[in-house]
Amino acid sequence: MTARILYGKDFAAQIKESARIEVDKLKNNFNVTPGLAVVIVGENPASQVYVRNKHKTCEELGIKSEVVALPETATKDDLLAKIDELNADKSIHGILVQLPLPDAIKSHSDAILNRIDPLKDVDGFHPMNVGKLVIGNPALVPCTPAGCIEMLDLAGIEIDGKRAVIIGRSNIVGKPMLHLLMARHATVTVCHSHTKNLPEVTREADILVAAMGKPKFVTADMIKTGAVVVDVGINRIAPKKLVGDVDFDAAVEVASAITPVPGGVGLLTVAMLMKNVVTAVKLQLGV
Ligand code: GUN
Repeated sequence: MTARILYGKDFAAQIKESARIEVDKLKNNFNVTPGLAVVIVGENPASQVYVRNKHKTCEELGIKSEVVALPETATKDDLLAKIDELNADKSIHGILVQLPLPDAIKSHSDAILNRIDPLKDVDGFHPMNVGKLVIGNPALVPCTPAGCIEMLDLAGIEIDGKRAVIIGRSNIVGKPMLHLLMARHATVTVCHSHTKNLPEVTREADILVAAMGKPKFVTADMIKTGAVVVDVGINRIAPKKLVGDVDFDAAVEVASAITPVPGGVGLLTVAMLMKNVVTAVKLQLGV
């Protein structure tokens, strides 16, 4: 079997187009231009690329984009003050603090993210939004896992009743993915570094999500023939070489569908962020 390759570009274009239509409606019907503020602290090159991408996509869709770049030396209080300012700014509907934060303030990440108005929390990281997701009343949902679900839907891949296995239990991907898949009636197992007999578990999966950040960790023998493999990993193994958490060349011979890295679900994350900005505007307008 050679798998169908699920290119993020095609799905991202569809998601962005529907966001663009929604942006136009908000402008025409409510005289509101959606606004996103992205806060970046320091000079992390990968973060700078992500932030540029978000800014460019906002411009494409007619969303006002404000990039707030703070120096590496910014303190927790500097950041909290900036967030307070953005929370109060009526022209800003979405606030995102690019992670990871520099080492000096990393330990304050939770306090900083928790300061964002939950209605403007387009990352879906605020405990209020996490709680809503867990109880099945989602408002703003983390972009990467939400993008994976959207992609499966757009690709016509059924989730209901399937066995899904997630490798990785991060707050950004693994945990929200569990709740999103469970809400769609999959039977979900979450594996992590302490899981015994991992290949035995992953071989049960109809849908296998790799999100633990280990280059080419998932090998062909860990995949059931015909499974759908979603690779959320982005690992830099050389200055210009990115690979996923899945050994793509081997997995493509076993799976029925697979996302590549680069060019897979990463592209959906930005598209889903745009969708979340539209959702945030609607939540704030109460429409
Ligand atoms: N860094 C890597 N992924 C993400 C994400 O989804 N949101 C934020 N804010 N930072 C990130």
